[in-house]
Amino acid sequence: MTLEKILQSQGFGSRKYCRALILDHRVSIHGKPCTDPNASFETTGLVFSLEDRNWTYRDKLYLALHKPAGYECSHQPQHHPSVFSLLPQPFIRRGLQCVGRLDQDTTGLLLLSDDGNFIHRYTSPRKNIPKTYHVTTVHPVDDGLISRLKNGVTLRDENIVTRALHCQANTHRQVTLVIAEGKYHQVKRMIAAAGNRVENLHRAAIGGFSLDVSLPVGHWRFLDETDLASLDTPGTM
Ligand code: URA
Repeated sequence: MTLEKILQSQGFGSRKYCRALILDHRVSIHGKPCTDPNASFETTGLVFSLEDRNWTYRDKLYLALHKPAGYECSHQPQHHPSVFSLLPQPFIRRGLQCVGRLDQDTTGLLLLSDDGNFIHRYTSPRKNIPKTYHVTTVHPVDDGLISRLKNGVTLRDENIVTRALHCQANTHRQVTLVIAEGKYHQVKRMIAAAGNRVENLHRAAIGGFSLDVSLPVGHWRFLDETDLASLDTPGTM
């Protein structure tokens, strides 16, 4: 692929703008300046730098973000900053989207991608991908709460019973809840329907992929092949 097309595909701007960046001596390949916009490179594993920052060519983006509280999962946030403000601008320009949404006050694992098929696959309620949440409740947790969540509750404005795939008490005010569907405000609505309220909500895992404890709040990382494969496994709960 030509260098100007490579830069354009990676979100650095229009073809004309990328051409100008190259002619302006601002791009290097494998550490050597390249000023020919039509120079052709094999893209697999290609590392290029724009000014002093290195980038690896990626056909598609797959990211995990440790979402902080107080951020909205929208490109046009209403009341809080956007999660996209935590990610590099070129990723946003190439069409990065959230894979499902977390509420502004929910923390934890948020996947992002620019691969439409991937986004569809992991947001479709029919795929039954388990999502694991740690829920801190306002009122103490008792056996009744756990069994109501396991047996199924009827959410407000819905006639169908929604069940936890798994639910266990961790402390007297915290449960781990695994759900399959991913409906709007599902965890908060399930906990309310079961007679309690959510104080804090944290998503710990999607399928068998858990948020790394070493990924600080507000930071992100790329998903590798093993991470992507683990999304389709049931997890360890
Ligand atoms: N369920 C909720 O109620 N909120 C979230 O952010 C995620 C799941």
